[in-house]
Amino acid sequence: MIRNNLQKFKKERTLVLIKPDGVERGLVGEIINRFEKCGLKIVGLGIVRASKNQIDRHYPKTKNWIENLGNNFIRSCEENNLKFDLKKDLGVNNIFELGLMVRRWLIDFMCSGPIVKIALEGNHAVEVVRKIIGPTLPYKAPPGTIRGDFSIDSPIVANLEKRALKNLIHASGNIQEANFELKIWFTSKELLN
Ligand code: CMP
Repeated sequence: MIRNNLQKFKKERTLVLIKPDGVERGLVGEIINRFEKCGLKIVGLGIVRASKNQIDRHYPKTKNWIENLGNNFIRSCEENNLKFDLKKDLGVNNIFELGLMVRRWLIDFMCSGPIVKIALEGNHAVEVVRKIIGPTLPYKAPPGTIRGDFSIDSPIVANLEKRALKNLIHASGNIQEANFELKIWFTSKELLN
């Protein structure tokens, strides 16, 4: 029983996607280097042009998740004292529709260029990867994290330019999400044991 649990913790897996901005800027080697140097093992790796369908399956479609995207948009505007009318300025009727619009921006962005998919394994892989990447918003991410060192993008600029936030990397948020996302990007044969 102890041996089984030990393996479970040592072999935790997570998914990382280097988004089109990271690939275009030539940061693939630097990003992979940071994961390897801290001790995580690469158990799957590839460069792909994702289809809209693949990205659509990757990002959740629940009402909660979509409304959360809409609420993020509104929060950024409020924090920057920008007033807007959902219908007149954005052509949407409610927060859900606003979230759907942001989700379409995300899909377009993820399909706009090649992305690098990486499956990583190691102790607390999900948490460790998120620590190395840093918080979602690059302009707030501290130095020493990938987002903090290589990007200053901000949600208000992204919103006004009607595009997704360019934050270099996607990483699974928890173990359940990691298991789901790894299956979207890798077949079992493509993952090493
Ligand atoms: P990702 O982690 O791939 O999936 C959810 C995306 O929502 C995230 O990348 C960001 O691109 C985007 N996102 C998260 N928070 C905000 C925010 N406050 N403003 C704009 N976009 C955001």
